Amino acid sequence: MKCTASAAFGLEGVLKKELEWLGLHPEKAMDGRVYFDATAEAIMRANLYLRTAEHIYILLEETPLTTFDDLFDTVKALPFAEWIDPSGVFIINAKAKKSTLMSERSIQSLTKKALIESLKASTKRYDFPENGPTYTFRASVSDDVFRLELDTSGEALHRRGYRLDAGAAPLKETLAAGLCLLARYTGKRPLIDPFCGSGTIAIEAAMIARNIPPGLARTFAFEDLIPFSNDAFKAVKKAAYQAINLDKDVAITALDYDPKVLIKAKANAERAGVDEDIDFIEARFEMHKFTNQPSALITNPPYDERLMNAREIDALYKAIGRTFKRLDQVDRYLISSVSGTEQKLGLTPTKTRVLFNGPIKARFYQFFKD
Ligand SMILES: C[S@@+](CC[C@H](N)C(=O)[O-])C[C@H]1O[C@@H](n2cnc3c(N)ncnc32)[C@H](O)[C@@H]1O
Repeated sequence: MKCTASAAFGLEGVLKKELEWLGLHPEKAMDGRVYFDATAEAIMRANLYLRTAEHIYILLEETPLTTFDDLFDTVKALPFAEWIDPSGVFIINAKAKKSTLMSERSIQSLTKKALIESLKASTKRYDFPENGPTYTFRASVSDDVFRLELDTSGEALHRRGYRLDAGAAPLKETLAAGLCLLARYTGKRPLIDPFCGSGTIAIEAAMIARNIPPGLARTFAFEDLIPFSNDAFKAVKKAAYQAINLDKDVAITALDYDPKVLIKAKANAERAGVDEDIDFIEARFEMHKFTNQPSALITNPPYDERLMNAREIDALYKAIGRTFKRLDQVDRYLISSVSGTEQKLGLTPTKTRVLFNGPIKARFYQFFKD
């Protein structure tokens, strides 16, 4: 089956690598989408294991078109009854960009009508009560290319299930995992996040270290798709449980000065099954005695005036810069959307990369050890 995986802009390269690690063969990556071919079993594994993907879709159609008649006929010709239960609830999310067909409402309603027509033709039934499982489709027209994708994930994959409570301005779990993967964190070196908030970076790092698939505690939309058998999914999950690495020594420290947010972080870590791998410390960054040893520091300091005023941000980033200068044996990584971060830190990064935390454009600054 032709598939696509979606990710935040900036993370497509990491997602491509992850697909390769799963033994899949990603093709092109563009605009937050990576293409690959997969069997039903591989789609289950992709949903379960990918740490940076938001959704995995089956690409039902991808074709150039510029009229609504063509759109309707194209969708009507697709064999929906092979995929979905006709009594399902059908949700069509439409998007249009730089195309002749720009009415998202019409794309949505015509796609749905054509889907029902296809089901009528193949099932010979005429009532569609929409009281069964929910199926979500993404119907998009971009640069006059129409794509229809069937969502196999359901709720976005950053919703792992462990983060029930977060502090202010939490990172998406998929982005936190992406930062750890960009830092090539595998669990061999000690890791510290000195502004841990609800613990997302530390928890995602611990799951990487222990080889815990991020989707183990949740359900997926593919469980209601016809070609996906329950037994096959049970086998995929069983293999995943057996591959969890319980023997390794994992050393992760998560620091925050806010005792209330640390309670949330600990509860999140417990739900993720990694609380024993993380040493949570209530401390102010400026007072903590960091060790200058080969290790990694990955962090997301406050960057937003909801959390601090501009003068406080300046003072804090200056303090971070001073500490970073001293920690020359540590690979230091910092994500922030504060403008002029480099000047505020007083340090030039080895590398910088633009990433998106939801709608917020941020930069990932990387300072490699000497
Ligand atoms: C942007 S949030 C981190 C969010 C986190 N990545 C998450 O996903 O939940 C920044 C955190 O830094 C903490 N903080 C602010 N100033 C601090 C300081 N001087 N020392 C330690 N922690 C601090 C705040 O309490 C807040 O939880």
